[in-house]
Amino acid sequence: MTEIGGRAALVTGGGSGIGRGLALELAQRGASVAVADIIPDNAQAVAAEIEAMGGTAVAIACDVCERESVAEAKRQANAALGPISLLFANAGATSFERFTQMSDADVDWIYQVNLMGTTHCLQAFLPDMIAAGSGHVVATASMAGMLPAWIPLHAPYSGAKMGIIGLMLNLRQELGETGVGSTVYCPGGVATGMKDNNERYRPERFGGPGPGPVKVPDGFFHEQKTTFLPPEQIAPMVLRAVRNDRAIVFDHADQRALFVETYQNLVMQAFDDAADYEKSLLSPSTSPAR
Ligand SMILES: NC(=O)c1ccc[n+]([C@@H]2O[C@H](COP(=O)([O-])OP(=O)(O)OC[C@H]3O[C@@H](n4cnc5c(N)ncnc54)[C@H](O)[C@@H]3O)[C@@H](O)[C@H]2O)c1
Repeated sequence: MTEIGGRAALVTGGGSGIGRGLALELAQRGASVAVADIIPDNAQAVAAEIEAMGGTAVAIACDVCERESVAEAKRQANAALGPISLLFANAGATSFERFTQMSDADVDWIYQVNLMGTTHCLQAFLPDMIAAGSGHVVATASMAGMLPAWIPLHAPYSGAKMGIIGLMLNLRQELGETGVGSTVYCPGGVATGMKDNNERYRPERFGGPGPGPVKVPDGFFHEQKTTFLPPEQIAPMVLRAVRNDRAIVFDHADQRALFVETYQNLVMQAFDDAADYEKSLLSPSTSPAR
């Protein structure tokens, strides 16, 4: 069981939304917190909130798209707080555009910030935890990774988030008896400023910051009937999973039906086709199913 109090944590994307909620809840439970974000003022504001509550925090400017920036964030976090034994690789950006109409830079950005950003953080922080035989890593994926057909016009984002899920679940086997736990969190709709601020997070090498709001087709979310939870409800759920070393966290119990429906339709159909094909190979009287 991983207790939170007394540990040092680092939260990427800690300057707003889900990451801010995680940083504040960690501090409330007695962890010291490195708040890492591509928008330094937001990281600073959250660190100041923690200090105003009597907690310990440091704000770090970091672009998770860049390995060297993550390495530098680790150096600063270690200097301020000592070894980090809780990592929340949470920074991300989204898009709701037709795949073939997205610029190359935007496609690259969505993969880089979500999938490679998470990968960079795991590479940087896991070795110390494994050496110490203690710690926990959490990555924020999305229900869009588990249910790729849930939200339309979300292809690179779904690809990147499904990549995070595969990365985390496979890594969990590798971590085995190291004493380091792992959790992948799949938000299914949280009321953050992501849609309004998304383009402000775009690093220079992917075209630089844009005006703010992500392009969302009219009526898009209304049609999806998604409920958006308040961000402050999220951190306790995620930290309970850390404590109990759960592999996956979902936040919308009502998405179970969609999950079953998706996997019944897609996955079971593929297994049925495979079974039919195998059967046809075993029967000498029929040629293989085409
Ligand atoms: N809100 C939802 O409904 C929802 C659903 C599914 C997944 N998510 C995921 O949750 C995570 C948090 O998003 P949120 O909803 O809190 O949105 P948010 O916009 O409030 O937070 C995202 C944070 O990431 C930071 N960030 C962006 N790019 C960065 C970079 N290159 N390096 C460092 N920091 C960077 C931003 O500055 C921001 O503080 C993201 O990974 C997102 O994909 C959110």
